[in-house]
Amino acid sequence: MHSSRINLHGRDVVSSRDFTRQEIEHLFALAAEMERHGEEYRDTLRNKKVALVFVEPSTRTFQSFLAATRALGGEAVPMADPSMSAMAKGETLHDTVKMLEGYGVDCIVLRHPSRGAAKYAAEMASIPVINAGSGSQEHPTQSMIDLYTILRRRGSIDGVSIGAIGDLRFSRTIPSLSYLASLFSGVSLYFMAPSALQVRPEVELFLKERNIKYKRIEETSEIAETLREIDVLYVTRLQKERFPDPSEYEKLRGSYIVNRELLSHARSDIGVMHPLPRVDELSPEIDSTPNAWYFDQAKYGLPLRMALLYLILGGESSG
Ligand code: NCD
Repeated sequence: MHSSRINLHGRDVVSSRDFTRQEIEHLFALAAEMERHGEEYRDTLRNKKVALVFVEPSTRTFQSFLAATRALGGEAVPMADPSMSAMAKGETLHDTVKMLEGYGVDCIVLRHPSRGAAKYAAEMASIPVINAGSGSQEHPTQSMIDLYTILRRRGSIDGVSIGAIGDLRFSRTIPSLSYLASLFSGVSLYFMAPSALQVRPEVELFLKERNIKYKRIEETSEIAETLREIDVLYVTRLQKERFPDPSEYEKLRGSYIVNRELLSHARSDIGVMHPLPRVDELSPEIDSTPNAWYFDQAKYGLPLRMALLYLILGGESSG
């Protein structure tokens, strides 16, 4: 069923910018296959070891990489609590990578507080490195899940208008989502945040270079009007841990809350997404509405990451 020209075998996943539309469509087709017939792939990573190096807290991402590895019959080598590992004693990322290679690990999934950590590890390592979050910079596998969710719920990604609301400055999901969405045609992006939380210049530059339609919305009074334009509302929490100044966080906290009242301005079929965890920016009163897509998003993490691991490490080695 898959085009044999697409080959992700042995590839690093550092940035959402590193993929073509064809590669992403290939990945999505396989994720759909994993949803339907995942058990047929249960031995495809037999004898493969996937190291999970999480030097920053995580629930969903860690668990879904762990579950995806196991569902394909691979062996997960977790280093989930860096405070217990040699990294807490100052071992460098370089040495950790080399040590894992020495163990015969086949792939490293890395979450790290530093921008550039995944790129650096990928350069050091002779095995594929998958970025599971690099500081505020990027979170490419989350954006794959996000677009897969849009595809499953909406039927297509082309022509979608996405409104991102919240902390767009310190979020890593927003840059990755913007880069990946740019591969599709007729996509428009609306960035709704006060100027202190607006999307970073590097993201705007990228969108300008690719002629992607986007707009910054900084006035609260313009939000209602914008909501009428969009198909998907992507909510992010304030990334408290990345605020340089705690008083700034306190000031901005609660500056936006997505609740039923806000959604009364939106199209009735708007999809609400959130990478989770949420704090208080997304009201639980949305949970029981058909607009809540965020539990689906979390659910699709498993088939999507199974498909990704399979393409990088599994059967399809010749293209
Ligand atoms: C996101 C992350 O870690 O960047 N969460 C996730 O991967 N599901 C978003 C966040 O932490 O707010």
